[in-house]
Amino acid sequence: MAESASVSLDDKDYQLPVITGSEGEKAIDTRKLRKDSGYICYDQGYGNTGSCMSEITYLDGDKGILRHRGYPIEQLTQNSGYIETAYLVIYGELPTAEQAKAFNDLLAEHADVDPRMHPILEGFPKDAPPMAMLSALMAALPAYYPDLATNNFEKDLQTFDQTAALAISKIRTFVAMIYRYQCGLPTVPSKDIPYCENLLQMMFSEEGTEYATDSEVVKALDLLLLLHVDHEQNCSTATVRMVGSSAANMLASISAGIAALSGPLHGGANAAVMKMLQAIHDEGDDGSHFIEAAKSGDKSKRLMGFGHAVYRNFDPRAKIIGVSCEKVLATLGIDDPLLSIAQHLEQAALKDDYFVSRKLYPNVDFYSGIIMRALGIPVEMFTAAFAMGRVPGWIANWREVASQPKGRIYRPRQIYTGATQRDYPVSS
Ligand code: CMC
Repeated sequence: MAESASVSLDDKDYQLPVITGSEGEKAIDTRKLRKDSGYICYDQGYGNTGSCMSEITYLDGDKGILRHRGYPIEQLTQNSGYIETAYLVIYGELPTAEQAKAFNDLLAEHADVDPRMHPILEGFPKDAPPMAMLSALMAALPAYYPDLATNNFEKDLQTFDQTAALAISKIRTFVAMIYRYQCGLPTVPSKDIPYCENLLQMMFSEEGTEYATDSEVVKALDLLLLLHVDHEQNCSTATVRMVGSSAANMLASISAGIAALSGPLHGGANAAVMKMLQAIHDEGDDGSHFIEAAKSGDKSKRLMGFGHAVYRNFDPRAKIIGVSCEKVLATLGIDDPLLSIAQHLEQAALKDDYFVSRKLYPNVDFYSGIIMRALGIPVEMFTAAFAMGRVPGWIANWREVASQPKGRIYRPRQIYTGATQRDYPVSS
């Protein structure tokens, strides 16, 4: 394997070091190129740029591989749970029984929201986008926990365990509060019960009655969150790292991640998929009309839930979720016509040369919405549920940024294409 790369620029040769990752990924280290030659690398959208070295998640888009801290996603979904995987992603190893208990105790400690934050929620219009509310509530947290969010890496790392648990636990309560606020229902306090059950009871408890937890519903929710726990340098995670690189605290960085996730090309895709499936259903169409429109090249007509910025073979999460979707609906006795439409659409697209030649396969969002709908989560809350699942990945990435002794602030360069210098018109 090459140890360096030579680049010839303006009749001069430059030797650039080659970096190799633990899975054999190769990169050319161009950090000194500009200083030595005056050239920068142009890579709009950073599609071929390694912005960091990371030990958290390994993803091979061509082979459809996803591993967290070395463990394949298939094994984690089979043998682990969301909270255990969250711990693994954040701390690097599976927890011992003692560590798991301490982690769960911290989550329980941070479950309730300071009552002084309630007026913030109540200040929002009832139909405000949940992701806007979620991002704002997360951004407000440092005001209530100044000791856990100091904007000083050294101090923030000292309180890391507390802040991480606070973020994971509070976002669940925020999601439940936002849902109930939009339904015009009062907030339900948390209970000392496992994470997913607690979310369900905070969302769906009815006045005067104990929420009856269905173990299948809990299992399905747990799987959904686990499948979203981390996904390498996607748009929101790269955002968290970028914001964190300025020494912004973990909670502020997560709030920015939530904003990045809200876009329909990223986390917002799960809701967009449901809207698309519903539109097909309402039109009484079999989906062929949507498939044809998606082939026009018009971005606004894309087949939502298809394609991925890095998976070019299959999205391993989509495989797991597709199977689980059928099982969950069968177990809960739900006959959702949108599932048949989704299955039909998938089959039709997978036979269509446009999708096959571009390696466009269903992604995690294609079926996740159908499961969420079966769990009673309304479509408007889908992306917020995705955000809740992704918090551990954001925390782990923020920690890597905060822990790098020689890490620099994220600050890319640009190629300026605007007007060259000109004189301001001065009227005589
Ligand atoms: N429907 C129709 N055509 C598509 C689609 C789609 N969903 N996705 C990509 N294409 C076309 C694209 O127009 C391009 O065509 P051409 O070569 O003729 O110009 C070709 O396929 C290659 O696409 P690309 O430019 O390499 O794709 P990208 O890496 O820029 O975009 C994506 C990735 C996920 C933004 C895109 O596939 C998309 O918009 N999908 C629909 C939205 C979606 O489901 N997003 C969720 C992603 S998974 C959740 C997450 O991790 O955030």
